[in-house]
Amino acid sequence: MHLFSFLLVFILGLEHLYGVVAVIQNNDVEEIKDRHRRSVSTDRRSEIRDISPEDRPSCPPGQIYPPNRVNSTQRLRDLRDEMRKIGIDAYIIPSGDAHQSEYTSPYDQRRRFICGLSGSAGYAIVTMANAALWTDGRYFLQAEAEMDCNWILMKRGEKGVPSSTEWLISVLEGIEDATVGSYPYLLGSRSWTNYEKELSKNNITLVKTNEDLVGNIWTSGRPSFPNSPINALPYKFAGRHWQEKMADMHVAMKTKEADAMVVSGLDETAWLLNLRASDIPFTPVFFSYVIVDRKKNQTILYIKNHNTKLTSNPTEEETTQKLYEHLNTGTDGSCSGKPGYCVEVREYDPVAVTDKVSSVVEYSERVWISPICSYAFYSLIPKEKLLQENTPISVQKARKNPIERQGMIKSHVRDAVALISFVARLEKEVKAGVRWTELSAADKLTEYRGKQMYNRGLSFETISSSGSNGAIIHYAPSNLTDKEITTDDVYLLDSGGQYLDGTTDVTRTFHFGSATDFQKECYTLVLKGYIDLANVKFMKMSFGPYGRELDILARRHLWNSGLDYRHGTGHGIGMYLGVHEGPARIGMTGKQPSYDHPIEEGQFFSDEPGYYEDGSFGMRVESIMEVKKFNLKYKFRNSVFLGFELVTLVPHEPNLIKYEMLSKDQIDWLNIYHKKVQDIIGPLLINTNREAYDWMELRTRKITYAVSAAPKEILSLLIILLSFTLVFVS
Ligand SMILES: *[C@@H]1O[C@H](CO)[C@@H](O)[C@H](O)[C@H]1NC(C)=O
Ligand SMILES: *[C@@H]1O[C@H](CO)[C@@H](O)[C@H](O)[C@H]1NC(C)=O
Ligand SMILES: *[C@@H]1O[C@H](CO)[C@@H](O)[C@H](O)[C@H]1NC(C)=O
Ligand SMILES: *[C@@H]1O[C@H](CO)[C@@H](O)[C@H](O)[C@H]1NC(C)=O
Repeated sequence: MHLFSFLLVFILGLEHLYGVVAVIQNNDVEEIKDRHRRSVSTDRRSEIRDISPEDRPSCPPGQIYPPNRVNSTQRLRDLRDEMRKIGIDAYIIPSGDAHQSEYTSPYDQRRRFICGLSGSAGYAIVTMANAALWTDGRYFLQAEAEMDCNWILMKRGEKGVPSSTEWLISVLEGIEDATVGSYPYLLGSRSWTNYEKELSKNNITLVKTNEDLVGNIWTSGRPSFPNSPINALPYKFAGRHWQEKMADMHVAMKTKEADAMVVSGLDETAWLLNLRASDIPFTPVFFSYVIVDRKKNQTILYIKNHNTKLTSNPTEEETTQKLYEHLNTGTDGSCSGKPGYCVEVREYDPVAVTDKVSSVVEYSERVWISPICSYAFYSLIPKEKLLQENTPISVQKARKNPIERQGMIKSHVRDAVALISFVARLEKEVKAGVRWTELSAADKLTEYRGKQMYNRGLSFETISSSGSNGAIIHYAPSNLTDKEITTDDVYLLDSGGQYLDGTTDVTRTFHFGSATDFQKECYTLVLKGYIDLANVKFMKMSFGPYGRELDILARRHLWNSGLDYRHGTGHGIGMYLGVHEGPARIGMTGKQPSYDHPIEEGQFFSDEPGYYEDGSFGMRVESIMEVKKFNLKYKFRNSVFLGFELVTLVPHEPNLIKYEMLSKDQIDWLNIYHKKVQDIIGPLLINTNREAYDWMELRTRKITYAVSAAPKEILSLLIILLSFTLVFVS
């Protein structure tokens, strides 16, 4: 899943869409939303409710203390001592790490430590008198259970809930020269500058703390800093040597007159140097910084325990070189006497990196950093030297090379085999009365994926949701909410894997019994939009097109029926990297963000419209598609035409389709797609898993469309789905 969306979502009050984070970090998104709220309402103050811990149902005296609740009293006392020492009135604790990663390692879960909420989204602010946590609908129940009554629960998206800036302004009212602090490595540059602007209007100063205050008080029980082995990704998967990539970087930097580039995104350093590790859940990256210094023709990589890692044996069986060999450095990480490009390797230490960046900034005219960058680095570069835009790494990483494209295609084939095999079994057993729940299904599917060649785990936490849970867009099953999968409910399954040669992300929605007419209508409207987007061709132009211009194709059938989905339509995806990858995406953005990027050949996107009926069901269809050149009937002024080709090869749910609502083009598209599934996946199942083969075969039979000049109503009736009567009967 993993949906991209900007203002559309903000307007509707949904937030924290994982996908967005691949482009801007969480807090940046939250801040944009905050700003939007301010701009839509003239008198927010009268709307905002005064929320306190007493508003929490589990807090009045006499309530039972849940067993998983975290006692934060001592932690808050310690944190306030730290705040007092440096003289700040409030402290902002975001969820992210120093690299603005989408997923964080347990070591970095400061916000969880301070308030107790284990969910992935949220940020905390602590003042001398109050402590508040903002999170979204997915985590309301969990926050109520896990946080003790020191905490105010700010339910984002609910009426009258103040934004973090609004709340800060109100609770700090009356304090003279009030100051708010945050650790600048953990807060993104955009969030920081937005907070700063809004707070300063109210005479509140935002200050950088020299230390990570939560880190200071988290002295016992803190997980250790991630330190996974780093392996070179062989050329047969990466498709391009890092030296070639480095030469490309130098060219791109020269074009923009950038003397140096500071790389802090973990997927960027991993891609640039063809390295992978497992420091972070779901994303095969490692803690690192890279400085590319064009003036000195020097590249420095900062990693943890560099001495050990340079010379240790690879732990990935496909990797043949040790790290120092791969990077063409000495065993101590130095470059002296090395011919050709060499990467100097030093110890990962934010202070050392900061010092080095400061000195590079001094002798450089222009320094390039990503829009996704901590305030710590952003603030080291004076405005006149700052180039903050999508790095050439992010742009080139998105445009997969021919070997990467092949890998994406092949890994999606294996992924489809796993998913089809699992769902064939699930459907059969659910119908036979075997008990399956959201969690047990997610776990079993992980096993099926794990058996596939080159699988290296999941690309995100599986969204396995039955019935009303499906309406929670970012739902992930937990002990508190686990539901049984039945023949009475819509079942939504959104999952993906990491493979050495690709990253996958696929959603299919099922109904193992009889869906209602309304459910079928909604699903078909979603499917029509999904097909129309997958089927469109567009002309390559110097100025686009951008995904925001294509989004309406997926949305239009729902809109024409007065329905919608409150998320974007598509996100980029990495090659054995992040499941969400910028800089381009397909989504309504309202105002055009400066970091948006056109759709280009070789990029891969998800196509994932959906529909969610609160309290009842959720449905989404998602496939990954490759952007390719197409030779069409004509060729307007010799232009290049691009379009999409699906790499996900999993059938759609016939139980939910109203075929008479599909156009001839849509039926043709489905037939061609399903034929491809048969041709590619069929041979892989026919001898090894007959049950899965039959399941797939039944769902990919040709649909016939009765073409005639009959009036529309009669035509609908004439759409005879002969082969599908089998499906409904069986
Ligand atoms: C929470 O911790 C504080 C301080 O350590 C202690 O005084 C208090 O009794 C604890 N509360 C509960 C409910 O255990
Ligand atoms: C901020 O401080 C200035 C100077 O002391 C004062 O004139 C102004 O009214 C203050 N603004 C707010 C919003 O408190
Ligand atoms: C930088 O160093 C590499 C390796 O020595 C060399 O191939 C390349 O030409 C150099 N680039 C410049 C601009 O000097
Ligand atoms: C669910 O509960 C069981 C037993 O109560 C526990 O062992 C398990 O770790 C829990 N799982 C999660 C994801 O919380």
